[in-house]
Amino acid sequence: MEMEWCVSMPKIELHAHLNGSIRDSTLLELAKELGEKGTIVFSEVEHVLSKNDRSLVEVFKLFDLIHNVTTDHKTVTRITKEVIEDFAADNVVYLELRTTPKRNDSKGMSKRSYLEAVLEGIKSVDSVEVDFSHNTNVDASSHSHAVDNICNGYERKKIYVRLLLSIDRRVTAEAAMETVELALEMRDFGVVGIDLSGNPVIGQWLTYLPALEYAKNQGLPVTLHCGEVPNPDEIHAMLDFLPMRIGHACCFEEEEWKFLKQLKIPVEICLTSNIRTETITSLDVHHFADLYKSNHPLVLCTDDAGVFSTSLSAEYALASSAFGLGKREMFELAQKAIEIIFACDRVKRELKEMFAKAASDLDL
Ligand code: IMP
Ligand code: ZN
Repeated sequence: MEMEWCVSMPKIELHAHLNGSIRDSTLLELAKELGEKGTIVFSEVEHVLSKNDRSLVEVFKLFDLIHNVTTDHKTVTRITKEVIEDFAADNVVYLELRTTPKRNDSKGMSKRSYLEAVLEGIKSVDSVEVDFSHNTNVDASSHSHAVDNICNGYERKKIYVRLLLSIDRRVTAEAAMETVELALEMRDFGVVGIDLSGNPVIGQWLTYLPALEYAKNQGLPVTLHCGEVPNPDEIHAMLDFLPMRIGHACCFEEEEWKFLKQLKIPVEICLTSNIRTETITSLDVHHFADLYKSNHPLVLCTDDAGVFSTSLSAEYALASSAFGLGKREMFELAQKAIEIIFACDRVKRELKEMFAKAASDLDL
């Protein structure tokens, strides 16, 4: 019942990694294909794929495997399409999908062509209407298209999709800058921000700082994976940078909480991810409760719906049972996320209208 309710309400997803959101069935299919071609030994990876509880270290091993099976443009396009369809089927009405543009010379793939393959995937979604452009002129025409979007007498579902380009902590300062340059070039094609992610025990904050400063100075919002492992110096430096949002905030100490609350930096909370990777020992001690009580801006997210076998509705159902949230509270939590999306005011306005209509349809 709780889960049904969570599915029925509109939701906003702000922290979802494209390759981490890959469907289980697609991942298995692609791995088998590569096994048949002899590129990988399927029996050696089968247990990694089918395992459900993975430590943070194992999760990053799985990402390496996923990246091995998603190296060509066609596959990138396919998984993008499927991921959007899955979020839309879960009643996600606004999705900020993040991904690390990858260069792969053996496949003739550049960071730009990787991103173009992602855009192709967004365009090829047909089970739902997708609004994906950040450009105001294009927005206007996609909006008028929505008016005619009647199928068998019913208006098709609509999902807004925007992209964040991720900088992987493994890269050099130059490569980080390249990703920011690409994001700036692609602003008219749905790219609305930059993310810093990747294995949190690798790399140095100062390597990424010039690229992140540049993004910020160009008016491109930045979100950072922050405090996934205990690293007070980095957490302080990240908060001093004043990102528009941060993800996780698992290993904060008293002083860092104080600072975060003063600055009112919104937090993207990924409950299942934190528990599965053991960055938080149990939901009883999860910082969601304190931030929620303090009315700190936050949003529930999936992180890697495929890798952690979750969905945004499942995350809301989990929050409801763990922290005692009722239907109205869950709805309001989802609705408040509108304030912290990176898309433009036109999208915010339309989402507010969507939520107002849903509130009345759901008798709230
Ligand atoms: P991609 O950017 O679409 O390839 O999505 C997968 C990538 O997202 C991984 O290789 C990591 O760099 C990043 N990622 C996914 N989950 C996490 C996480 O929990 N912490 C840090 N980085 C992550
Ligand atoms: Zn993440």
